[in-house]
Amino acid sequence: MAYTPPFTREDFGDDFLWGITISAFQNEGAAEHDGKGASIWDVFTSRKGKIKDKSHARVACDFYNRYTQDILLAKLMGFTVFRFSISWARIMPTGTGAVNPAGLAYYHRIIDACLELGLEPFITLYHWDLPQSLEAKGGWCHRGTVFAFAEYVSVCAREYGNKVKNWIVLNEPFGFTALGYMLGVHAPGKFGLSYFLPAVHHVVLAQAEGGRVIREEVSGANVGTTFSCSQIIPYTRNEQDMRAARRADALFNRMFIEPSLGMGYPVDDFPLLKRIERRYALWRDWDKLPFNFDFIGVQNYFPLVVRHNAFMPVLKVTEVKAKYRNVPMTSLGWEISGEGMYHIIRQFAAYPGVKKLIVTESGAAFNDMLENGQINDTDRISYFQEYIGAVLKAKKEGVPVDGYFAWTLTDNFEWAEGYRARFGLVHVNFETQQRIIKASGYWFRKLLNGI
Ligand code: NOJ
Repeated sequence: MAYTPPFTREDFGDDFLWGITISAFQNEGAAEHDGKGASIWDVFTSRKGKIKDKSHARVACDFYNRYTQDILLAKLMGFTVFRFSISWARIMPTGTGAVNPAGLAYYHRIIDACLELGLEPFITLYHWDLPQSLEAKGGWCHRGTVFAFAEYVSVCAREYGNKVKNWIVLNEPFGFTALGYMLGVHAPGKFGLSYFLPAVHHVVLAQAEGGRVIREEVSGANVGTTFSCSQIIPYTRNEQDMRAARRADALFNRMFIEPSLGMGYPVDDFPLLKRIERRYALWRDWDKLPFNFDFIGVQNYFPLVVRHNAFMPVLKVTEVKAKYRNVPMTSLGWEISGEGMYHIIRQFAAYPGVKKLIVTESGAAFNDMLENGQINDTDRISYFQEYIGAVLKAKKEGVPVDGYFAWTLTDNFEWAEGYRARFGLVHVNFETQQRIIKASGYWFRKLLNGI
């Protein structure tokens, strides 16, 4: 049986961080409670046909009310870090100006619950739920959102900075700009380059600006930000596919981190990004893009196999999906590959400006079966063994990777997929809100607590 981990906690060293991650919109519910303003995801989920199972997140896992129990579950499974995000619209209902005291008090309760249990809080400042009032003015396509973000970050820093030292500015900027402003399949549902390119640039600015505000206002802060990333594998070794792979790498992996490292946009491999440079030439933004992060969060779920395709718009690349390649995959059709994790960690660690990596999310969706009140999710256990094993291999070779945070604590609202994609270590019955720790949760307890 796959229940006993093939490595021990000691293999990773005493300082290695073992965390679990959730996000406000996916977990909290309480969409309109205690003065919270609407976010773009509240609006998007109320539009017809946007969420595959027609669900919404007005209740989600009701973390808003059940946080004490859920944080305790994280503790019981042996984690020592709890990563959560703040809902901007809960704190500032219209995105700027007035602050909502009930919202501020709520996150104090979360932080205090963590601290009382000896869990180290990691706060994500932006996990995709932009206040709708800001979207009405153009959202991330509008430069004003960068200033609004800095104001919001400053409110959070001043409010929580004496209790919380670990801060993550953005969650997966490529994810929310590409899905939300290019493909239109996530909030706010915008479509095309005329939205995407300005959104990218403003988000890159906000990423650095947010970092500066935290560093200035929180003494002793440990400031990071996260990136989605995937090893890119060309389908063949022919020159066209190899070039396609470099374009895909520039878009998926390099576009947000490189400006923050002072390298600018990766225009050589993806010349379309020159349009950003031209469009913002007059603003002289270039020296505002870098920020010296203390750590970089990497979030890798799958590798991508790609080939050249002249008929595809913009990138001229097609993904050769896992289901056509006869490789193991999750219920979302994502390829399972510890190798992919290993390679992408090495790729990110190779940047001279990166001091430290933390895997700030890692996990998998499977079709869990509830049998006799138990979920024996051996596929998820194998997944974690493979991915954590890959992290250990990189670490042993000297890669500065200092933590692994599992995605996620409880099954939750998986964006456009709704509730069907279950990623939790804890099963949730969304009708009764009953929680059941899955076998994978016990596997973590064995690894982290030895019991
Ligand atoms: C990335 C996102 O940060 C998170 O919100 C999402 O649920 C997981 N990956 C799984 O798709």
